[in-house]
Amino acid sequence: MSQRRFLVTAALPYSNGRLHVGHVAGAYLPADIFVRYLRSRGDDVRFICGSDDNGVAIEISAAKEGTTPAELSGKYNARQKIDFDGLGIEFDIYGGTHQPDFVDYHNRLCQEFFKANFDNGHFVKKTSEQLYDAEADKFLPDRYVTGKCYQQMSDGSPCEHPAANGDQCEHCGNSVDPLLLINPVSTITGATPQRRKTTHWYLQLDKFQGMLTDWFSLVSLGWRPIVTNFAMGSIKTGLPERAMTRDLTWGVPVPLDDPDAAGKVLYVWFDAPIGYVSFTAKLCEQRDGDWQKYKDWWQNPDCKIYHFIGEDNIVFHALTWPAMLLGSHYTAEEIQVRGSTYTAPKEQGHYQLPTNVVANAFLNIKFPGKEEEKISKSRGTAVWIQDYLETFDPDPLRYYLTINAPEAQRTAWNFDDFVERNNAELIATLGNFINRWQKIVTNHFERKVPDADRAEQLEADLLASIRALPDQVAEDIEATRFKSALGRIMEGFRECNRYIDTREPWKTRKTDLPLCGTTINTCIQAVRTLGVLLDPFLPFAGEKIRATLGLSRDQWTWPHATDELPAGHPLGPTPEVLFRKLDPAEFEQG
Ligand code: 2FM
Ligand code: ZN
Repeated sequence: MSQRRFLVTAALPYSNGRLHVGHVAGAYLPADIFVRYLRSRGDDVRFICGSDDNGVAIEISAAKEGTTPAELSGKYNARQKIDFDGLGIEFDIYGGTHQPDFVDYHNRLCQEFFKANFDNGHFVKKTSEQLYDAEADKFLPDRYVTGKCYQQMSDGSPCEHPAANGDQCEHCGNSVDPLLLINPVSTITGATPQRRKTTHWYLQLDKFQGMLTDWFSLVSLGWRPIVTNFAMGSIKTGLPERAMTRDLTWGVPVPLDDPDAAGKVLYVWFDAPIGYVSFTAKLCEQRDGDWQKYKDWWQNPDCKIYHFIGEDNIVFHALTWPAMLLGSHYTAEEIQVRGSTYTAPKEQGHYQLPTNVVANAFLNIKFPGKEEEKISKSRGTAVWIQDYLETFDPDPLRYYLTINAPEAQRTAWNFDDFVERNNAELIATLGNFINRWQKIVTNHFERKVPDADRAEQLEADLLASIRALPDQVAEDIEATRFKSALGRIMEGFRECNRYIDTREPWKTRKTDLPLCGTTINTCIQAVRTLGVLLDPFLPFAGEKIRATLGLSRDQWTWPHATDELPAGHPLGPTPEVLFRKLDPAEFEQG
């Protein structure tokens, strides 16, 4: 099997809050499964994440908590690391765009990106009126303004929703120009905003339209429809130019020798994706002793780049970020001349565009006895990872959020369903099958793999079916169908249960020990394969299964998944409980 190179990123969470199940379902868990699979397969992978520390949201949260953005982002960055560790989500590096160990590379690379795009002629400087909160002494970004909606409903009647946001009205669904809102109010102080002039640099995304459309239609064939539909929709509506600078002090200073740039920083959405690159640079410094080696990943046509994100990040990753990458290389004239033709740069030294942008829809939540609703931090309708891990194990969460993943549309974290699936699927199907032959192999075969000299068609059929799974599951994972992949593995365990029910080794141990041994041997061979496949999804259970089979980590990899365990191979100890039975009463909303 040839070794491939992958750079996998997961969306940088804002460092102004804790993580909840929606975050994990959206980006981090599928990315972790993908990376664990690639490592098991033997590919060369780096898995990058860290916190998104810059921007006005962090500044405002810090003010609310009576602290500084630096302290606030440090605190939540540390919390996020603990939560990810607890779930077995293992990045190669967890950085932070303003964390002390990362900020230098980050600012440097962001400024290089901005300058490259600037020098290539992709920015226009414009002065315009914007809403300003004099009490907070801040220009108000879109979602910090609310007011009466001026748009129309689809039937042509006026919307007049009293609390439209500065970017969109939830009532009529239209996008909103904050300057047109009726009676606008600052959501920071409640003050009526003033209009003030300010100057910013706008990235001319419209100029990339042709090239991006071409690239997108070439690259996105195997992408998820949720991503392609969203991105194609935005391309059709037309990409607007976007201000990539902000009137703030917390962030990456605008690297221009222009008095209008003084006291301004880069827009957080300009700097955030560059965090993927700057954290890779830090990792290369740590692992390879040379931070510049990040180019071997980002500017290497042989490296596949996968971005895992939530649905609200699609346009940024599928269009804006690729435009920034193209713009750091091509001048505006070159883009103009090439028109609608994208050709992937073949040489090293150019930023490569993403191989895949993998997004999930949002996760809703359903508390017992209540209607399904959106996860909301402010209404307290969330399951926080920190709280979850105080009482429960990580694998049931990983299982539920994968088998019920919002890969194509929204799904819900439903407490009753979570308990039911834990008890019926993880315990009754999976855990039970690992346990059903343990006592017999201990009492009758000295915990050694018995001979299988009585194998018949039934055994051959079961093992043929199980041993076909590594390729089928791999195909699903490579196509980012994690839910289907895990479903196949679970179906494998169901088949095994049917097999053992037919053979009844608890009876044959008294009547026909060679047949009993054959049955146990077959179960062990099946678990040897299924355990390797399960490992990326449920790494804690995977580890226990590996140990009970008496295998080393080197033997616990995808290429070895169908290796036969020879008769006489000594097994490890019977595993302690793989999954704990849950009671719905354990979940009271609180
Ligand atoms: O939506 C969010 O939570 C953003 N902080 C994601 C940023 S992803 C990337 F671009 F860094
Ligand atoms: Zn409206």
